[in-house]
Amino acid sequence: MKKWIIILLFFFSVTVVRAAGTGEIVLQEARFHLGDAPAGWTEPGFDDSDWQTIAIPEKWHGEGMYAQYRIRFQVPDDFVKTAPYKRNAIFDLAFIDDCDEACLNGKLIGKSGRMPSEDGQAQSAWDKHRIYKVDARQLKEGENLLTVLVWNRRTRGGVYGGPFVVRMAQLDDLLEISCSEDGSADHCRISVSSDVRIRARLDVAGKEKRARLKPGRVFKRDISYDGSEPVKLDVSIRDKRTGQIVCKSFTPKYCLTPPAPQEPRYNSPAVLGVRCGSPIYFRVPFSGLRPMTFKAYGLPEGLSFDEAMGVLSGSVGKDGEYPIRFEASNEAGSSEGSLLLKVGDTIALTPPMGWNSWNCWGLDVSEEKVYASARALIASGLADYGYSYVNIDDAWQGSERSDDGTLLPDERFPDIAGLGDYLHRNGLRLGIYSSPGNFTCGGYLGSLGFEQKDADTWNAWGVDYLKYDLCGYRSILDTLPVVKRADHMKPYHLMDAFLKRQPRDICYSICQYGLEEVWTWGASAGGNLWRTTGDITDTWDSVLRIGFTLQRELWPFSGPGRWNDPDMLVVGRVGWGEGLRDSRLTADEQYSHVSLWALLAAPLIIGGDLSSLDRFTMNLLCNNEVIAIDQDPMGRQARCLMEKDSIQVWGRPLSDGSYAAGIFNMGDEALDVNIADILTESGWSGIGVCRDVWRQKECRETAAIPPHGVIMLKFNAIDAK
Ligand code: GLA
Repeated sequence: MKKWIIILLFFFSVTVVRAAGTGEIVLQEARFHLGDAPAGWTEPGFDDSDWQTIAIPEKWHGEGMYAQYRIRFQVPDDFVKTAPYKRNAIFDLAFIDDCDEACLNGKLIGKSGRMPSEDGQAQSAWDKHRIYKVDARQLKEGENLLTVLVWNRRTRGGVYGGPFVVRMAQLDDLLEISCSEDGSADHCRISVSSDVRIRARLDVAGKEKRARLKPGRVFKRDISYDGSEPVKLDVSIRDKRTGQIVCKSFTPKYCLTPPAPQEPRYNSPAVLGVRCGSPIYFRVPFSGLRPMTFKAYGLPEGLSFDEAMGVLSGSVGKDGEYPIRFEASNEAGSSEGSLLLKVGDTIALTPPMGWNSWNCWGLDVSEEKVYASARALIASGLADYGYSYVNIDDAWQGSERSDDGTLLPDERFPDIAGLGDYLHRNGLRLGIYSSPGNFTCGGYLGSLGFEQKDADTWNAWGVDYLKYDLCGYRSILDTLPVVKRADHMKPYHLMDAFLKRQPRDICYSICQYGLEEVWTWGASAGGNLWRTTGDITDTWDSVLRIGFTLQRELWPFSGPGRWNDPDMLVVGRVGWGEGLRDSRLTADEQYSHVSLWALLAAPLIIGGDLSSLDRFTMNLLCNNEVIAIDQDPMGRQARCLMEKDSIQVWGRPLSDGSYAAGIFNMGDEALDVNIADILTESGWSGIGVCRDVWRQKECRETAAIPPHGVIMLKFNAIDAK
């Protein structure tokens, strides 16, 4: 095998290392310039002798800035000639914070994100692995020039995650599978670009197709599937000359929840807690064809009901339990639903449901974006399933307070009170965010020293939910010689007192990442829910740690009015900024994520942008039977009852005397299980009627659980452990 060597050329050129025997050219240094790009800088002849030399990877400093990298590298004569596949070269530029445009010898070869120069609207791409496939004819023997233009919004930007690598394509690179939804049917595209004879074998749900590919042909095949059950695509290609085989598998998204009936159907919740005299905003959660008209019976004094919108409002002046019956009618029929209104000390009788801006918009949130999600909550039908809070997370705050101490919103939030009115008119609720410290995690003003003022302001805006995030208060804790649990509790108690003085119910969400076992004292500090962990992200590792590992021992601490909060649902389009992407969790991982959260009686706060929900995400979020488990009035959090090999079984009792359980496959291979055996092993005996709640069908005797997937069940049993 040929050994390649290190080449150091010319006074202005950069170090180019060829890793021995691997056919890779590793690029470790660049000529670097910060600021606007000089004319002609992508051309090989441009004089960069006065640019500095920078190592790759190394981040540069500078906010809202452009930077340019010029990398000269040598391509040996035999680089393409001796490659097994000569059609494509791969440029692996690792990670770049934030957007980039890469050119080879002056010609664009790839770009990620969108720079503000294009139309003023930047789109982030910082966490996308940059792999650009390039026609190998663009590579010249001898010296080549790679240029990379980078734009970054925040303080530290640039290339990171490793040096750049240029290599010729391997068999693996020739096969691409991509699946997307086009609204009605789902399609997957498999493409193989061959420059040698290749045999392809395609296995869709056990049905096999074969193809032979001649050199120079691109093989593209569209697979359509109805998407109502998991379909595994197994594709293998074999290079006839070498016998080498590459296999790839892919499970496209699939929708298990059957379509909701056209006639009205009452979904969750069955109970609603409100304090005496506090305003009520409740949109009756009926799914079904619109237009729909509504009636309410048994309303206590002080409440009124909008029959066209199905919105309950007003306030009740006397503690007590008030059963209310609703009727809804549409073209397809009519039906009933009932709600037990409990007027007393406890609010959040079932885990809060709604949306929060953080996982999608991060610090780039605006009133317009929140409105878009609020409108979508209604238009998509999510509100008909009980999703009711619309929560603004960090970055709504302006940079100063008025003379009387009132915290003024940023100009991106011109009228928060107007947003509150809009939500209340529609029977929905407004949430806001602050920190007990001077500053929030995003560096915005916190409430320290202005707790009362802020609570009063939020009341005036119609705020119904506060997420109070420790962040800046950590620096105060750091000044204490010894930090005791009471020191952690203090700022939460303080804000609670001011919230309770408001003439409205403000659901209090404590956010301090589970420090000092918050689950043991969160309720006594007035919290209705408390984050039990650090921030979630859209990876299986994160769901595994936050959900499956860290919630295990917490079940005794949760119940009506006081919930453990394992953070928001990382479903739909997320991104913590402007470059939204589909959640990186696979379809099966998303079923497991939502199933576990429902079993845990966790708040169901959607993290994805609601204005760009796809059919899969809607289907995932609108299963009335799964939601009913989450919202069960008894509020018992599931326990992990059995763990064997790669199976975990989590279960909980429900208020109607039945049980709910999830049989999770934590492994990387599909598993066939006998449901009754697993439930018996998990401690249930005398199992009666059993329902597969995702499919809303009777359980089958056995089930195939996909890797990282779940079967979620509701069943009767004579006895439980
Ligand atoms: C912390 C919280 C997140 C989010 C951000 C906002 O990281 O845990 O949920 O609110 O702050 O800056």
